[in-house]
Amino acid sequence: TWTTGNVIEEQVERIREQVGDAQVICALSGGVDSSVAAALVHEAVGDQLTCFFIDHGLLRQGEREQVEQDYAETMGIRVVTIDESDRFLGALEGLTDPELKRKAIGREFIRSFEDAQRTLIAELGGSGEDIKFLVQGTLYPDVVESGGGEGAANIKSHHNVGGLPEDLKFDLVEPLRTLFKDEVRAIGRQLGVPEKIVARQPFPGPGLGIRVIGEVTRENLEVLRAADAIARAELTRAGLDEEVWQMPVVLLSQVRSVGVQGDGRTYGHPIVLRPVSSEDAMTADWSRLPYDLLARISNRITNEVQEVNRVVLDVTSKPPGTIEWE
Ligand code: XMP
Repeated sequence: TWTTGNVIEEQVERIREQVGDAQVICALSGGVDSSVAAALVHEAVGDQLTCFFIDHGLLRQGEREQVEQDYAETMGIRVVTIDESDRFLGALEGLTDPELKRKAIGREFIRSFEDAQRTLIAELGGSGEDIKFLVQGTLYPDVVESGGGEGAANIKSHHNVGGLPEDLKFDLVEPLRTLFKDEVRAIGRQLGVPEKIVARQPFPGPGLGIRVIGEVTRENLEVLRAADAIARAELTRAGLDEEVWQMPVVLLSQVRSVGVQGDGRTYGHPIVLRPVSSEDAMTADWSRLPYDLLARISNRITNEVQEVNRVVLDVTSKPPGTIEWE
């Protein structure tokens, strides 16, 4: 029978068997999946684990500070932050195709971890043979939607599955690979991962990089980050964080529309709100948010974010839409 206790026991066994007394690197994103994966590995091999949090420049407002604080306070796991934003934004330059963007981000993640590996080797001694294990919080739906499931089509390359380069030098440790999000949350709670991490809404590894439609530039990211911060704050203020599975906020950087502000013409970009309800992200329905809340978000974004003059609502379920736009 499936119990969180059984799964934890079984995975701890497996992890110990796989890594022996080698050092393990964890790719921590601050989200539920990688946090629970890290907690499981920590349970299994303790201080052999070092977590790296990559700031890829595609994070939301305040996210880096929040992750650093949450982990320092509560998890008891060593976390090292590395700023890699130049590397990621460089790799994204000129790209507009969603799969090319995803693949570029997946590749740069691995390169960042190779750097992390070198840092750790320099610090602890040993070689790439001793420090070759990389933990990822890959879930079952990630595997299926990246074409890893039996007979499955490649819908999009999740950064930790289909986005990996061929010449991967790591052995992956993926203790959540057969699980769904609600199961992962239950396991996290049992392992003592704090509620504010376990209950967090999903946020994709490629971050805002797949929510800027068009080229990902520092300017576009700044616009999207500001709009996203407003939308999130208002959703929280309305007390709907739990009811809504997640609410991607998307910038259509290649689209402009005419508007009017004061007595002047504007020619700005639209922002799309994509609130969804879901059980496991495999299917989803658009959330019927209260009109008053939508009005507040729209007013604030168009008033406070200069480049945005229109806010639109995505009323598509999954299928036929996916949750993210890319
Ligand atoms: P889609 O857009 O495929 O999203 O309906 C399903 C769920 O997965 C998240 N998502 C990702 N998560 N790496 C992740 O860690 C990715 O590359 C990725 N792409 C999508 C998305 O936010 C939703 O929760």
